[in-house]
Amino acid sequence: MRALIVGAGGMGRAWANNINKSSQCDIAGWIDVREGAAATASAEMNLAVPYSGNNLADALRDVQPDFVVDVTPPEVHCSVTVEALAAGIPVLGEKPMASSMSEARRMISASESAGKLYMVSQSRRYDAGLWAFRKVIEEKLGGAGVLNADFYIGAHFGGFRDEMPSPLVLDMAIHTFDESRFLSGTDPVAVYAEEFNPGWSWYKGDACASAIFEMSGGLRFTYRGSWCAEGLHTSWDADWRAVGPRGSAIWKNNELPVSQTITRKAGFFSECEEQTEPTEEIASGIAGSLTEFIEAIQTGRMPNGECHDNIKSLAMVFAAIESSKRKERVLIEEILLS
Ligand SMILES: NC(=O)c1ccc[n+]([C@@H]2O[C@H](COP(=O)([O-])OP(=O)(O)OC[C@H]3O[C@@H](n4cnc5c(N)ncnc54)[C@H](O)[C@@H]3O)[C@@H](O)[C@H]2O)c1
Repeated sequence: MRALIVGAGGMGRAWANNINKSSQCDIAGWIDVREGAAATASAEMNLAVPYSGNNLADALRDVQPDFVVDVTPPEVHCSVTVEALAAGIPVLGEKPMASSMSEARRMISASESAGKLYMVSQSRRYDAGLWAFRKVIEEKLGGAGVLNADFYIGAHFGGFRDEMPSPLVLDMAIHTFDESRFLSGTDPVAVYAEEFNPGWSWYKGDACASAIFEMSGGLRFTYRGSWCAEGLHTSWDADWRAVGPRGSAIWKNNELPVSQTITRKAGFFSECEEQTEPTEEIASGIAGSLTEFIEAIQTGRMPNGECHDNIKSLAMVFAAIESSKRKERVLIEEILLS
């Protein structure tokens, strides 16, 4: 299949590499609104890309791609996705889906009107450790009633993240929030959250957040994070703890998940046995989302990140931001309809 990549920044290059390595597709075209940026990127990466330019309408007409990969900044996702879908082309877009809920709904409508797939590449869903942790929660703990995630990384990106409002929650916590849905098989109901920016932060917007989500079935998912935490970094996937009726499990530092489950209820503490969950090999990160997207186009199967589902992860983000502004608990349904 022939891909048109839109955006030649840091992640655009990662996507070019990803598509180039795939046996299922080729880069048919690459554009960036910055004049010459896509051609420069392909030259620097030694990629023979047949078409480069800076205009999406021209590229859609001239390249006639089988799909578009949108790797632009979040506030551009809506316009690129709607234009590509209107031309009848399926879209695999970077997270977060959009920079507002109304944009996200427009993107869903565009997918419905065109009858074409719009999938968000929620790349952190494709991680062998995450899949093993989900298996532990389901099979060993008997589901989770408590789920915690800690994310502490001091990332000096420069660029749009330093300037945007809510850089942690909108640009990064979207991964962790989405992973909480993947791990627990639940959907968000409500949230109380606080965003804040410590005096030493190098971000203009709030780089820290704490949030308590009520999820369907009563699960509480608690998130604590900072993007200006120097030293003692957690993994990019966050450090996790799940507690269920049969025991507890942790997944941290991208090591194998560990569980302790009840073998005998006796005395003050139950007796538990500790087990380490092995991982199975999967296509990880954006290689995983590309593989799933192509399979979904070929088979019609519903992929992870399909827009009707992914908007629920995005709603967790905007509900957390709204809760922080209002200093009150916010219902996800309100955000989904807002
Ligand atoms: N999945 C991940 O792990 C991961 C990691 C990094 C970034 N991302 C996501 O990837 C996206 C891009 O991030 P980045 O770090 O590459 O940003 P970036 O700023 O480095 O690159 C974005 C590029 O898009 C171009 N662009 C802007 N408007 C455009 C338009 N209308 N048409 C064509 N090109 C346009 C810019 O000129 C720039 O070159 C963001 O949504 C970000 O959240 C995901």
